[in-house]
Amino acid sequence: MRTLLHLDASARRRSISRELSAAFADAWRARHPDGGYHYRDLAADPVPFIGEGWTQLCDAVLTLPNTDVERIGELVRTPEHAAAWEIVEPLLAELLAADVILIGTPMYNYSIPASLKAWLDQVTFPRMSLAHRKFVVTSARGGAYSPGAPKAAYDYQERFLRDFFAGHFAVSDTVFVHAELANSRQDPALAHLRAEHDTSYVRALAAARALAGEH
Ligand SMILES: Cc1cc2nc3c(=O)[nH]c(=O)nc-3n(C[C@H](O)[C@H](O)[C@H](O)COP(=O)(O)O)c2cc1C
Repeated sequence: MRTLLHLDASARRRSISRELSAAFADAWRARHPDGGYHYRDLAADPVPFIGEGWTQLCDAVLTLPNTDVERIGELVRTPEHAAAWEIVEPLLAELLAADVILIGTPMYNYSIPASLKAWLDQVTFPRMSLAHRKFVVTSARGGAYSPGAPKAAYDYQERFLRDFFAGHFAVSDTVFVHAELANSRQDPALAHLRAEHDTSYVRALAAARALAGEH
């Protein structure tokens, strides 16, 4: 049985990245009627920032030659460790149970929302591996960052997530689906780019649905 973990991070309820992640999730669940499915809304139900106890637990992990993520709980020794682990344990369990991790995220300030970064900080420990899992990111951004766009070099959203999953999780084949130029929906100065946005949005929706068939 395959399991999908579906995360959303947009502060908006009417959000394009949410629509795209829902398109993937709906198609995936139709294809895997007996599959497992967990949903977490990181904006509506944010995970706390890591604190002192978390760093102490991480220091304990660092003393081991290898990290067995299934056994980090065995390193809990102090009340501070226990308080940190109480937050981490369910998040990590959801992540480890998943074969496919779907992340719907906006671009905020050229990067990812703090809500998604807070989740990554909680679940990431040194030398862990999530190899053999698939990561799919559906994103929306106000501008255009595709190769050749004037601001392509400012895309720290895809670059950060791609490098993060490769560097920390040993996952090098993260797939990204972007709807670009979303600000043309609101900004009169970008109205001339609305048709380009509509094309990008429709393509992204179709790509998200099609990707579900490959995962
Ligand atoms: C706090 C904030 C920061 C943003 N920063 C950027 C940015 O740096 N570059 C960009 O192209 N769009 C930026 N945008 C626009 C969003 O990427 C755009 O509204 C997108 O549609 C958000 O995704 P959503 O529809 O899933 O909420 C920003 C929007 C917000 C609210």
